This record gives sequence, structure tokens and C-alpha cells, in this order.
Amino acid sequence: MEKRILITGGAGFIGSALAKHLVAQGHEVSVLDNLSFGRRELAPVPDHRFLNVDIRNHAAVRRALEAVRPQWVLHLAAIHFIPYCNSNPVEAADININGTIHVLDAAASTPGVEQVFVASTAAVYPIADHALAEHHATGPLDIYGTTKLASERITEAFHARTGIPSIIGRFFNAFGPNETNPHLIPEIQRQVLAGARILQLGNMEPKRDFIHTEDMGMAMDALLKAGIAGCETFNIGRGIEYSVREIVEAFERQLGQPLTVQTDPSRVRKVERMHLLADVSKLKQRTGWAPRWGIDEGVATLLKSDRPVFA
Ligand SMILES: NC(=O)c1ccc[n+]([C@@H]2O[C@H](COP(=O)([O-])OP(=O)(O)OC[C@H]3O[C@@H](n4cnc5c(N)ncnc54)[C@H](O)[C@@H]3O)[C@@H](O)[C@H]2O)c1
Repeated sequence: MEKRILITGGAGFIGSALAKHLVAQGHEVSVLDNLSFGRRELAPVPDHRFLNVDIRNHAAVRRALEAVRPQWVLHLAAIHFIPYCNSNPVEAADININGTIHVLDAAASTPGVEQVFVASTAAVYPIADHALAEHHATGPLDIYGTTKLASERITEAFHARTGIPSIIGRFFNAFGPNETNPHLIPEIQRQVLAGARILQLGNMEPKRDFIHTEDMGMAMDALLKAGIAGCETFNIGRGIEYSVREIVEAFERQLGQPLTVQTDPSRVRKVERMHLLADVSKLKQRTGWAPRWGIDEGVATLLKSDRPVFA
């Protein structure tokens, strides 16, 4: 059945892919975004369903929900590029923690909200060299992961207070079109599309679990339809990890040309996890979801675009 849906952060990288998927399913989607990192043209909604609102403005968020009257509230707005969060910790906490309180408080006071989804992150987990399941102890390494762990707790408290079914999605590393932040894959994309065959990158060995944004949209949709009654947490990853070197090799295969890597000391992280891998068995068992996109197909589409959104 079609739903009236509000997506915060729906003009961003993952939120716009989610919005596109839900619009294609026939839902009535509205987007709330202050366009700090997102772009208006990425949000696939008409102007009367686009709300340029800052989630730090509690009254404006309340007015927005009152106007939209959503049945599902999907909260993805946040700042999350880790170097940016490290340099701007007060802003990161204000948006990711207070902003989440404002969105959920507005959801609590708006009649008709049936379900909420809150985007969290794999960065809530401590360093581990094995696949991480949802019951693993949390232990964020940085301000970003700490703000997101706080937003998880706020979601649990919201559910305890309102009884509204709530889903927390711990996103692993997203990749796909329209990247708004200079993460690894779009950074390689940017350099290659600019003609470079000698890439400037940081550490080559860390491995990450890369999931395509279309697969994430399908996973979130599947979770929202799964009939979750309480407040539950799900990893949203692919369950396979690739090193930076393996990602560069995927670009080489798609280009049909060799790439040389030079270490750029400014890109080498001081604290680095060598692994970040999702155990996605809970997501698969509860929804029947399976990822469709592999790294090579994803990289092939990235090489057909002009440049990433942030460039
Ligand atoms: N990209 C990843 O790999 C990844 C991994 C884990 C978790 N996440 C989470 O997924 C969500 C979406 O991330 P993304 O990669 O699409 O990033 P993004 O920056 O493209 O999207 C975030 C959106 O939120 C908006 N926003 C930021 N501050 C706002 C504010 N104060 N008020 C209103 N809107 C605001 C931005 O304009 C942007 O459109 C975030 O919650 C992020 O923490 C992303």
C-alpha cells in the first residue's frame, strides 16, 4: 500500500537513491533537507514536496511534519564525512544528536506516524577483524560514531515513549552515483575522470564493506515492509569486504588501463581500522533481501558519469 513518506536528507547521496526507489514504488515522498551537502536536483520530488529546513530548527521541523503528515518518517539527514566531523565536532553533535531529537520529537507529536527509520552507521562498532553482527558491543572511535550511537539511543527512547515501530539501520560504506562527500571510491572516480592514471591515495590495505545505494534503498524498503513491531537494529551492508587496492584493481579492469598509486601523506588516517565488515544475516533472514550490485558493475557506471557531485 502506498504511504505518505518524509525523508530527511533526501537530497543527499543515499537519501536521494532511497527517495527515487520509493517514488518508483508509487509512494508519496516529501524531502526535508537544508542542502548543506545535498543538491536540490538530486531529490526526485516536485517543489511543493521539497522542504528546505534545517533539522537544528525544532519549530521548523515540527511545522514541516505537521504540513506533510507522514506515515513513515525516514531520518537520514546528518553530517558524516569523518574528517569534517573531526574538524567541526560541535556542529556534528548539534546536527546528528539535537537534530535527531527534533525530528523524532516532531514525529511523536504529529498524528498518524506509523513507523520511523533512523540512519546509523558501522562507525558505532569498535575495531574488529571479523564480521560484525548487530549484537556486537558498540565502541565508536570518533565524534561521528559517538553522535550516531547517541542517535540510536534517542531512537530507542523515542520508541519506548511512543510505541511507534522504529528501525535503526547501521549503514556500512555506500557507493554509487551522486556522491556528495570525497570518500574513497568517488575520489578515485574524480581523479580517473580528470584524466589521472597516477592516483594520490592514503593507506592501501584497509578493507571496507561497500554496498551500492540502490541495494541500500531496496534493503530499507524491505525493512519498512517487514512488519517490525518494536525498535530493532539492522546492519545494511553487502557482507563482502574489499581493500583499497582491490577497488583500484576494479577501476583498472573497467578502464582497461593500469593505474599507479602514490601515497599522499595527507590522506593517511591517524587512526585506521583495517577491517569493517557487516554480518547481514539478520537483514537477509527478516526481509529476503539480497544485493544486486557488484563492485565492477558499480565502478563501470561511475566511469560513465561526468564527475561526482562534490567535485
Ligand atoms: N555514505 C556512507 O557511506 C554512510 C555510511 C554510514 C552512514 N551513513 C549515514 O547515512 C546518512 C546519509 O548519508 P549520505 O552519505 O547520503 O550523506 P549526504 O551528506 O549526502 O546526506 C546527508 C544529507 O543531510 C543533509 N543535511 C545535513 N545537515 C542538515 C541539517 N542540519 N538539516 C537538514 N538537512 C541536513 C545534507 O544536505 C545531505 O543532503 C547519514 O545519516 C549518514 O550518517 C552514510
